[in-house]
Amino acid sequence: MNQMKTADAAVPEEARGLDIHAHADVSNYETTGDPLLDNPKMSARNVNVYYGEKHAIMDVSLDIGGNEVIAMIGPSGCGKSTFLRCLNRMNDTIPICRVKGDIQLDGEDIYHSRQDTVLLRARVGMVFQKPNPFPKSIYENVAYGPRIHGLAHNKIEMDEIVENSLRRASLWEEVKDVLDKPGTGLSGGQQQRLCIARAIAVSPEVILMDEPCSALDPIATARIEELIDELKERFTIAIVTHSMQQAARVSQRTAYFHLGKLIEVGQTKQIFTNPQHELTENYITGRFG
Ligand SMILES: Nc1ncnc2c1ncn2[C@@H]1O[C@H](COP(=O)(O)OP(=O)(O)O)[C@@H](O)[C@H]1O
Ligand SMILES: [Mg+2]
Repeated sequence: MNQMKTADAAVPEEARGLDIHAHADVSNYETTGDPLLDNPKMSARNVNVYYGEKHAIMDVSLDIGGNEVIAMIGPSGCGKSTFLRCLNRMNDTIPICRVKGDIQLDGEDIYHSRQDTVLLRARVGMVFQKPNPFPKSIYENVAYGPRIHGLAHNKIEMDEIVENSLRRASLWEEVKDVLDKPGTGLSGGQQQRLCIARAIAVSPEVILMDEPCSALDPIATARIEELIDELKERFTIAIVTHSMQQAARVSQRTAYFHLGKLIEVGQTKQIFTNPQHELTENYITGRFG
């Protein structure tokens, strides 16, 4: 509980001290910081996204490093979810949505016509804002992906994948005796960890999380945040969050979006203590958004 009460204190001391230098010229949204990495797991170049006539993402270039947690923050409607969905082609499921630009996973174009999107979404998994377990048993929620991808040859192997995934999602101890009960009967926080187990079960390389804690209470949120910290040893994680405290707690780098543009990306500590752009500064100091 202590941790919960002092959640806001997790923002770096300097962020509250506000050692911030304003930059007067915000006319051309120059990306600053360190957007491009030497050896990225994923890399996006000049990404533009349209919903019909609406230009929702404007020329965004951003790299995501292996085994890093990168947080994406910014005011509601700035395009965080849209950009995240570009990374595993979830926008393909929205008929009016068009994605332009180049996005690579391990140096390969994920928008290539020969790219199998089911396979892509196993490699780049996703966890949504509202926990969405299938209307199936806890066991089947986790076994579903491995089954369609043929990852287990028999029941023993499947049991192993299910147990390992639930353990890694820090849910095993709570559900090991009720695996045949519906996933939808779990608490919200447990359901979200079940969804994380489901994503992990197909051995993804990247996990995209879109405000995964916004429907959860502070205790369930703290558990997910702890989990993210463990998962980053094995997976690359891109997390959208509306909570700057959460971004500060879980991420190594933070990207700030504003009206469809990537304004600034850099080390999380730097973004919160010494933002290079006035728009970022306004947002983190609560003057905007
Ligand atoms: N399915 C959609 N159809 C039309 N416009 C959309 C759709 N999804 C998002 N948008 C628009 O794209 C912009 C970015 O939205 P979104 O990516 O959801 O922002 P965020 O996640 O930062 O709140 C908003 O103006 C939103 O209205
Ligand atoms: Mg969103």
